Amino acid sequence: MRVTMIGAGYVGLVSGACFADFGHQVVCVDKDAAKVAALNRGEIPIFEPGLAELVDANVRQGRLEFAAASDRIGEAEAVFIAVGTPSRRGDGHADLTYVYDAVREIAPQLSPAAVVVTKSTVPVGTGDEIERILRAARPDAEIQVVSNPEFLREGAAIQDFKHPDRIVVGTDDARARAVLAAIYRPLYLNAPPIIYVNRRTAELIKYAANAFLATKITFINEIADLCEQVGADIQDVARGMGLDNRIGGKFLHAGPGFGGSCFPKDTSALLKTAHDHGVALRIVESVAAVNEQRKRAMARKVVAALDGSVRGKTIAVLGLTFKPNTDDTRESPAIPLITALQDLGATVRGYDPAGMEQAKPQLPAVVYCNSAYSAVEGADAVVIATEWEQFRALDLARLKRVMARPVIVDLRNIYGADEMKRANFRYVAVGRPASIEAVPGPRSQNERSSA
Ligand SMILES: NC(=O)c1ccc[n+]([C@@H]2O[C@H](COP(=O)([O-])OP(=O)(O)OC[C@H]3O[C@@H](n4cnc5c(N)ncnc54)[C@H](O)[C@@H]3O)[C@@H](O)[C@H]2O)c1
Repeated sequence: MRVTMIGAGYVGLVSGACFADFGHQVVCVDKDAAKVAALNRGEIPIFEPGLAELVDANVRQGRLEFAAASDRIGEAEAVFIAVGTPSRRGDGHADLTYVYDAVREIAPQLSPAAVVVTKSTVPVGTGDEIERILRAARPDAEIQVVSNPEFLREGAAIQDFKHPDRIVVGTDDARARAVLAAIYRPLYLNAPPIIYVNRRTAELIKYAANAFLATKITFINEIADLCEQVGADIQDVARGMGLDNRIGGKFLHAGPGFGGSCFPKDTSALLKTAHDHGVALRIVESVAAVNEQRKRAMARKVVAALDGSVRGKTIAVLGLTFKPNTDDTRESPAIPLITALQDLGATVRGYDPAGMEQAKPQLPAVVYCNSAYSAVEGADAVVIATEWEQFRALDLARLKRVMARPVIVDLRNIYGADEMKRANFRYVAVGRPASIEAVPGPRSQNERSSA
């Protein structure tokens, strides 16, 4: 099959590379000429495990190409739209400018029998508007518009794309279903269910799934708050709940609130769609509000761990991305946490294995460091904001030698209070017993270097 992917971001690049790996002939088109030039030099603009190798192999085998504009869209049997759908400034609706611009750009070139597939996450009814634009621009053609939402997770994107739990195809047209079936046929060996539904249903499945996952996270975060007040341990509560098959253990990890490029904007867009149709989604409304407050409120944990004030103190924040194994800092909980700490008078030193360049425009006043150990130098507390593997086994003795005070605020619950107690750290986690031994006053630079 000949496939064109419009947009070579997280979704477009991963989907394009995987389709090429299935054996299809793929051109990824992106209007960002610098991104395309980098891809053509063999540079991958995003951090995604395994992606560089996959792109390289498929480019070498002649199945994957990149272009800033393509005059070959007319050859494609399927054209996927994978451009961004961020929150619209001011009202929180999905901003569909990129989607509609892309549709207008491809319209004149499409083959008369092309199938246009929306992979971007778009509100219910967007497919109808795309169809209207295409019919007006191409009255000669029998172009079909299909919704095929994407469920991959950054950090595990290739695995998710190649081993999906399900593939959702939204169209009533038999020919379009056959084209999508042929594109995904290489996955049949893994037997993922393909769900054929109407287009509006497919569009809503994506939002309903993301809103449900966001709800699960927010639910466990609130139960974690209760654990802290009643002396229970959220890890054990979540395990005790999650072993019930009806609930499942995934997305029951308490933390600083959800972030990333999808959940915040998708819950907001779903609420706007519901309001427009006179439906109150009160659970999703609460989820969005509770999560928004939570991110900044995490700064209070740091303040409490430092006996009531961070003014004039230095805080090391480990992890700036919204989750590990990505360089994406969009809506990362680390950002409001850090700005809150800075507003309260703290100096923040930061380190992230992949996300520092992305964080810099949003957090210009952070002192960026080149390792976790250099970030904690002289710090009055270290905050673990993202659970990167390399933060899971920090050398506590070394930390203690270089920090001004031995204080750890673990917002991802990757350590245990007992081991922190043994190492004489003051330790504060989320929804779990803290180890709040009295902490000695700050040690001077001389004391630290002679330790
Ligand atoms: N990132 C994720 O984990 C994820 C997962 C599932 C679904 N989605 C959805 O997929 C869509 C894309 O998300 P993303 O994270 O890949 O976005 P992104 O911002 O990483 O990439 C979008 C790309 O589209 C390009 N683009 C915009 N307009 C264009 C045009 N007219 N022609 C060609 N290229 C154009 C941009 O230059 C950019 O490179 C969104 O709707 C998102 O909600 C994202």
